[in-house]
Amino acid sequence: MANALYIPELLADVPRDAWPRHVAIIMDGNGRWAGARGLPRIEGHRRGADAVRHVTEECSRLGLAQLTLFAFSSENWRRPPDEIAFLMDLYRRYLVKERPTIMKNSLRFRTLGRRDGIPAGALAEVDRTIAASAANTGMTLCLAVNYGSRREIADAARRLAERARDGRLDPAAITEETLASALDTAGMPDPDLLIRTAGEMRLSNFLLWQMSYAEIWVTETLWPDITEQHLHEAIRDFARRERRFGGLGAPTNK
Ligand code: IPE
Ligand code: IPE
Ligand code: MG
Repeated sequence: MANALYIPELLADVPRDAWPRHVAIIMDGNGRWAGARGLPRIEGHRRGADAVRHVTEECSRLGLAQLTLFAFSSENWRRPPDEIAFLMDLYRRYLVKERPTIMKNSLRFRTLGRRDGIPAGALAEVDRTIAASAANTGMTLCLAVNYGSRREIADAARRLAERARDGRLDPAAITEETLASALDTAGMPDPDLLIRTAGEMRLSNFLLWQMSYAEIWVTETLWPDITEQHLHEAIRDFARRERRFGGLGAPTNK
């Protein structure tokens, strides 16, 4: 269960209300992790799944509201068929294996991204996990699989255009909230903190709209090597940042 009393050493002097509520992670570097060991890329993905388990458990222990993990982008279909097939089967096996832990920790399981292209076996486990965990009250665990932010925004624009065409939406009444509510993430809080592993300084088409004001934390550490300690460091750094949202922030003594 999410336990608000669990405070790791690195966060002992960080006020709880300064922690992020929603953490999003671009889990990158599985291939490099394997390459550095002379192993096939899929070994990196296998080890990456273990890291998913540890990080999810830790985020839940910390009492975060939501953890969103980028697992497969709409552009990752450009990879070799063998690697894609392995990733899709890993997704299915991960869900079968993790469902008991998801239930034990009362996580709510959600997904982002299109279903087309994902094998039926994996989709069946997705649906089972969403249904089984719907009434849970702990952290939301959201997996972005076959997700691309530009496509999500285009899909939302199309839905709004159809509603306008059918006379159910006045174009003059479209606001940021209208568009946000037509995205896959409707009803979810925006990420406060984005973590990217493996050093790349880019968003790679992840939650572009939703991360307008997310704080970004990048580590050179490859995803399979990520530990609870890295997560604590990221949260600690996040808590030190001043989020201004375009304003002037807290008054200084200048
Ligand atoms: C992230 O690791 C996992 C996915 C994108 C599916 P990569 O497979 O991108 O690893 P690198 O970037 O090649 O090291
Ligand atoms: C981003 O990683 C997507 C995921 C982690 C699922 P990539 O490895 O696909 O990103 P690029 O290609 O380096 O931008
Ligand atoms: Mg990569």
